[in-house]
Amino acid sequence: MGTEGEPAAQEPPSHATATATMIAGAAAVGGFLFGYDTSVINGTVEALRAEFGLGSFVVGLVVASALLGCAAGAWFAGELADRIGRVRVMLLAALLFVLSALGSALAFSAVDLTLWRLVGGLAIGAASVIAPAYIAEIAPARLRGRLGSLQQLAIVTGIFTALLADYFIARVSAGGASGEFPLGGTAWRWMFASAVVPAVIYGAIAMSIPESPRFLVKRHQEARARRVLARVLGAGTDVDAKVRDIARTLREDRPVRVRDLRGPRLGLLPIVWVGILLSVFQQFVGINVIFYYSSSLWQAVGFSESDAMLTSVITSITNIVTTLVAIALIDRIGRRRLLLAGAAGMTLTLATLTVAFATAPLVDGEPVLGPTAGPIALIAANLYVFSFGATWGPVVWVLLGEMFNNFIRAAALAVAAAAQWIANWLITMTFPAMAALGLGFAYGFYTLSAGVAFLFVYKAVRETKGRELEDMDQLYGVPEDRTARHA
Ligand code: GLC
Repeated sequence: MGTEGEPAAQEPPSHATATATMIAGAAAVGGFLFGYDTSVINGTVEALRAEFGLGSFVVGLVVASALLGCAAGAWFAGELADRIGRVRVMLLAALLFVLSALGSALAFSAVDLTLWRLVGGLAIGAASVIAPAYIAEIAPARLRGRLGSLQQLAIVTGIFTALLADYFIARVSAGGASGEFPLGGTAWRWMFASAVVPAVIYGAIAMSIPESPRFLVKRHQEARARRVLARVLGAGTDVDAKVRDIARTLREDRPVRVRDLRGPRLGLLPIVWVGILLSVFQQFVGINVIFYYSSSLWQAVGFSESDAMLTSVITSITNIVTTLVAIALIDRIGRRRLLLAGAAGMTLTLATLTVAFATAPLVDGEPVLGPTAGPIALIAANLYVFSFGATWGPVVWVLLGEMFNNFIRAAALAVAAAAQWIANWLITMTFPAMAALGLGFAYGFYTLSAGVAFLFVYKAVRETKGRELEDMDQLYGVPEDRTARHA
């Protein structure tokens, strides 16, 4: 921290790029917790059933309760981020992550556990809003897509690590001649407790990264903002002009509330609807069904139940690798083209799965794919994960972080992310019922969503590649009086 007016030390461009990448990477650890905490519960489901004598419906509720907590966390994080700052919201989320991990690990009833999972949900929701907002606000425009995609890389790495942690904890607890290895019969408690480690790391990171320059300007801390901008933009950038530019787009000091997003005619500003629909389509293509209920898919393809776990691990590795493809492409070919290609790829691969399942003979009420359909479905499912992971997975988070102007960003992103968590919850809750009608029915719905998503992007989504955050207003031609009622 320095005094007002002190010149900002400028880094050479290559240093600045490295600094921006490090800071963005550190903030993306929130994404790791997002992935880890949503998927660590997978390994505990059977044990919870046994320990608390729960039926499938209640287990479903326990799992889904976290998702509703996420929606609430996302909703409140926006306004909070405008009041106390992006970094303090990260700290708060880290604290909630720790509490939820410990509380869930020590839970003595299903109700108790549900409450702790809700607390964890608040943290996940908050992290899901704050990472894209912060990264977009700290990144130079030319790298913003790549740095924003680090969040998705962290999410999928978190999913993968949680699956792995569950697997090892289950093995250690089942191992040992007496069956009473160090963890005894309480492996599920260790699975939840393991989330403390990344949560503490996240908290430590939040204490060491600078506040977002856009937030600092909002709070009239221009000197600090200038120093942060100089570190991440590097020599050759006129940071004074940048600060003036940011100030121009902020319009007023007070935090923006969700109700401020209401336009005169449509109820919400058109751009906020674009964010909400991007979020909803990202979930309605069914990606999390693959992650949360993969075993029913893989078993229909012909894998045994025990291999289903391994195939889930493979799917999550595929997802990590495909995110790297997005990182390589997003700032070159742009967001819009990636979304269009992804929606087209998902429509084709989901349609293949739909036909395979709809035409498969039933054995004990379950579809079983034949020697031709099985491998085709397996390839289609992996190409589907590829189509999503290289496009909609990262691109939607990047867009939500960058497409709104500085004034409404936190609030608008909060609404869009909350919509995404509700959509996630809806898809997760309805899958068992849809699958009971037939897997072809469920996948048919996701196919339709992917097709409509293509048309939606084609019609409504504008390219943001390389644009300064300060120029986002021009994209959708949002008139001044619509974004600031009291400006
Ligand atoms: C995106 C989605 C998230 C999903 C993940 C899987 O981050 O928002 O719901 O689990 O991709 O890759």
